[in-house]
Amino acid sequence: MSEKTIINTLSELAATSSSLSLIRLFDDEPQRLERLSIQAPGLYADFSKQKVDEKTLDALLAYAEAQNLGEFFDAMRAGEAVNTTEHRAAQHMALRAPEDENFQALGTNISNTIAKERARLRAFANDIRGGKRQGVTGRALRTLVHIGIGGSDLGPRLLMQALKRYHAPGMDVRFAANLDAADINDALSGCDPETTLVIVVSKSFSTAETLANARVARAWLVQHLGEDAPTLHMAAVSTNLAATADFGIQDENVFAMHDWVGGRYSLWSSVGLSVMATLKEDAFEDMLAGAAAMDDHALNTPVAQNAPLLSGLIQFWNRNFLNMKARAIVPYAARLSLLPAYLQQLIMESNGKSVRADGTPADLVASPVIFGAEGTNAQHAFFQQLHQGPDPVPVDFIGFTQDQEHNPGHHRGVLANMLAQARALMSGAPAPKEAPYKHFPGNRPSTILLMDALSPFSLGALLAFYEHETVAQAVLCGINPFDQWGVELGKHVAVEVLSHLEKSTTQGMDPSTAALIERIAKP
Ligand code: F6P
Repeated sequence: MSEKTIINTLSELAATSSSLSLIRLFDDEPQRLERLSIQAPGLYADFSKQKVDEKTLDALLAYAEAQNLGEFFDAMRAGEAVNTTEHRAAQHMALRAPEDENFQALGTNISNTIAKERARLRAFANDIRGGKRQGVTGRALRTLVHIGIGGSDLGPRLLMQALKRYHAPGMDVRFAANLDAADINDALSGCDPETTLVIVVSKSFSTAETLANARVARAWLVQHLGEDAPTLHMAAVSTNLAATADFGIQDENVFAMHDWVGGRYSLWSSVGLSVMATLKEDAFEDMLAGAAAMDDHALNTPVAQNAPLLSGLIQFWNRNFLNMKARAIVPYAARLSLLPAYLQQLIMESNGKSVRADGTPADLVASPVIFGAEGTNAQHAFFQQLHQGPDPVPVDFIGFTQDQEHNPGHHRGVLANMLAQARALMSGAPAPKEAPYKHFPGNRPSTILLMDALSPFSLGALLAFYEHETVAQAVLCGINPFDQWGVELGKHVAVEVLSHLEKSTTQGMDPSTAALIERIAKP
């Protein structure tokens, strides 16, 4: 069948989906749970509460075939220029692959480069964790200040929160991302300069916020330790080695990033240096192993049994045919409170686009608006809208079977709440005639991702799951998930507005911005 025919079929199926009763589908389709649940590496995915019946699933699988979904992943694995507007490969999988696997980027072998850099990173991280790297006064470097933003911040920050159980004794890491100086001031507050290492993480080494914060940190080090402080107290992660040298960071403390890995796909790379040094030895490697296991699953499993690609298909259906314009990510784990923010960048910076990779206007939408918060807190924040709001919002529930805090009462309660919310969203509840405001429409879809423990391996598998799901949605819509031209205009306009603010001028500004500049400029 042609893509157009399949899209028409999906539209017809969607037109009748409003009469679908999720709870009745389990009776109508005896194999439903089996067909829509998958044991993938590190996680069990239950899609059976999604509003997809057998006919819809068959049509979606046919569309994946027609869009050559599997072939795209093969091309990405082969290092082809899947990032079409920048003519680059997207080889985040190479960063976590076993070292005997061969990867290329645009025909050039990159596996040797990765192996050398991994060894260098590991040695540097082990030296720091082992107290073998000293500062200018001979004391061991024990506090890392990670300066970066976006993909150079969100991943490491998430990993440090989620893997708190795996922190090495005596190590501390702080993060600064925002241009608001409160961020860098808070990060440096209480640090002992003699035992502090500042790591500046920036693929371009031209991001305004990161350079501004790095200058504050450098001045702080010089003020306390003298002009030579950066030599031993600053490191960098970047593709731009000329810029890091200009900044005064010596090459032996600079770790490479590459243009064949996108920023929001880069936590597996040198970007993770602060994490590697602060977690116990092998924790970072275990995380890479979890992601690599998910890669193997994504690359070698038929779409119908492929957890990330099937999830991509279902979210493609929710956005384009059920017209669900938002999506909630609700991890039932206090230490995954940063996961929604991480996935906002991964999904919305990858897929929040309106032009296809071939330059034509996109007629399919690859990304909803992503939001979320950790459960059970979210139940006391936005679940009112999820249950009784006018627009159904698909929810990803993420939970862990192991009681890692050794508090069975709490742990059972967390899991009971997660399962209950998914069940209640599906089943709904009638309301007494005299109290219509107590009506729960139900039939609201969700996915459950269930893992054993919040461990490096399972976290690696989970984040790789979402990377592949994101790419799958992009392929289904024909867009390029690896560029981010949409972030440029705001940056350019900021330079113009800053100039006006500095000179208290407004020519060329719209009346609103002009009035605001004048109001700000008033003494
Ligand atoms: O948001 C735009 C962006 O380029 C992201 O893609 C990237 O992760 C972030 O800014 C930081 O970029 P850099 O690592 O080059 O400082």
